[in-house]
Amino acid sequence: METRLITLADAQKLAALHQVSFAESAWTAAQIAGSLVQPSTRGWVSEEEGRPVAFILFQITQDEAEILTFCVAPTHRRKGLGATLLETAFGQMNTGRIFLEVAADNVAAVRLYEKAGFRLNGRRKAYYPHGTGAVDAVMLVWKRSNRA
Ligand SMILES: CC(C)(COP(=O)(O)OP(=O)(O)OC[C@H]1O[C@@H](n2cnc3c(N)ncnc32)[C@H](O)[C@@H]1OP(=O)(O)O)[C@@H](O)C(=O)NCCC(=O)NCCS
Repeated sequence: METRLITLADAQKLAALHQVSFAESAWTAAQIAGSLVQPSTRGWVSEEEGRPVAFILFQITQDEAEILTFCVAPTHRRKGLGATLLETAFGQMNTGRIFLEVAADNVAAVRLYEKAGFRLNGRRKAYYPHGTGAVDAVMLVWKRSNRA
């Protein structure tokens, strides 16, 4: 497994991975490319034999960053890949605080983020459309200064 910075040339392959992770809310290659051309976007991809199996995108503004999207291929989950990718990316960034929003019912992601040291920063009621209703967004923050 190799982890490297994402480039614009990766957009198509990353869109295929996003599709199997997010289905109807997946980003197209054009949307991913549109994000990658922004100077504030930075991302890392983990590849196995040249095929992307996980990636993460951040929007970085001065001393803060936000996770825009993050996924691991369904075939490669629960092997520590997501946690390792997060750790690698954080190690190569020098931002003091990292924010994100995640659906409150996304147990896998919420647990992973808590384990990585994220803490609750707020809640947005009925933020994500879900079936005929909506699910809350949990807002989390990671502070470099809080690290053990
Ligand atoms: C969330 C996601 C990125 C996790 O990736 P992963 O590589 O499977 O996660 P890891 O194997 O590194 O897991 C790290 C920890 O997270 C927690 N975790 C991960 N998947 C879990 C699950 N399905 N159920 C419960 N806890 C889970 C566990 O605490 C795990 O540690 P453990 O295996 O020692 O118990 C992956 O499930 C995914 O791509 N989901 C779909 C896209 C998504 O929801 N992205 C996040 C949007 S904000």
